[in-house]
Amino acid sequence: MKIINIVGARPNFMKIAPLMEQYRHHSNIEPLLIHTGQHYDEKMSDLFFRQLGIPEPDINLEVGSGTHAFQTAEIMKAFEPVVLEHEPDVVLVVGDVNSTIACGLVAVKLGVKLIHVEAGLRSGDRSMPEEINRVLTDSISDMLFCTEQSGVDNLIKEGIASEKIHLVGNVMIDTLLNNLQKAKESKIIEQLQAQGLIGSDGFAVLTMHRPSNVDGSKRFLQILDALEVIQKELPILFPIHPRTRRNLAELGLQARMDSLRNIHLMDPIGYLDFLKLNSCAKVVLTDSGGIQEETTVLKVPCITLRENTERPITAEIGSNQIVGTDPQRIVAAYRNATSGNWREPQIPPLWDGKAARRIVRILLEKL
Ligand code: UD1
Repeated sequence: MKIINIVGARPNFMKIAPLMEQYRHHSNIEPLLIHTGQHYDEKMSDLFFRQLGIPEPDINLEVGSGTHAFQTAEIMKAFEPVVLEHEPDVVLVVGDVNSTIACGLVAVKLGVKLIHVEAGLRSGDRSMPEEINRVLTDSISDMLFCTEQSGVDNLIKEGIASEKIHLVGNVMIDTLLNNLQKAKESKIIEQLQAQGLIGSDGFAVLTMHRPSNVDGSKRFLQILDALEVIQKELPILFPIHPRTRRNLAELGLQARMDSLRNIHLMDPIGYLDFLKLNSCAKVVLTDSGGIQEETTVLKVPCITLRENTERPITAEIGSNQIVGTDPQRIVAAYRNATSGNWREPQIPPLWDGKAARRIVRILLEKL
């Protein structure tokens, strides 16, 4: 069985790693790995391949950045000849980035079966580019692998046949569990202490890159108001996404950010250092999707700077509080997270490190 596997942007790498590893145990699977080049900086891409032991991509389409239409179209144009040349049995896409829908569309238009890993997640917010990618990818997929029950329920509601849907757990959590030991050996905390950025009383981690938060100043400023309060009590480590760094300057917010002396901006960091920071943080503030899941498994309080989540299980039983961008709500969630009566989270069903194994078993059975 020839499987073309697609990665493009940073969160895809953690999802594909355990699948590539599983394929190695099955001589009847011939995997090809295609990188669309949506992310291309060393720290957004190559570093993850090295740290997660992902094989070099067989092909890099080197598409790079652009508007949504431009980027999606360029990926489609570059990927079509690859499918025509290699004639795969299936194309497998993960997550919800532009590379996911672009390659999915190319596959089905050429009559190749499409597999979507991390299917069915819905924020209900169609202004979020990822939500459009999720809905469209799911509607054209032949096999849909879900991380949580809400994903299955959403797909059934949308009329997807139940025999196409499989609840298998979470490949991103496979990667987390596979790398936790290695991450413990990271020296990032000692390095940050040596630089005087954090002391021994703990720290918070912040990530933020959603267009709704950082492409305009209104919400960005609301978040900064909350961070101003929090950083007076706890140093905040902020590995900053290139989109956010650019927008800080373009929106004229750099001086305000610089005035918050206990927020420490860092370049994007690798998977192992980031895992170490998250696992040791007192609290994580984020607008990412995957980090809501990772903090749940690490049992570290997560404050999600969005009005909704496509990963409701992390808020129902996990460590996640969904608070939006109102400064008072963010600070209240911070107080709750750092108070002694914080509720101990549970690990969602099947988030046990064996999701990729289940997916490959089902592929071998059904295809
Ligand atoms: C993309 C995904 C988002 C995911 C995020 C993780 C879509 C629609 N969005 O958002 O779901 O959470 O990746 O990081 O697919 N840039 C660089 N270097 C890089 C890559 C990007 O500097 O290696 C800069 C470019 O200026 C680019 C901007 O970041 O224009 C945005 O990159 P893009 O891939 O379009 O979207 P992300 O915001 O990264």
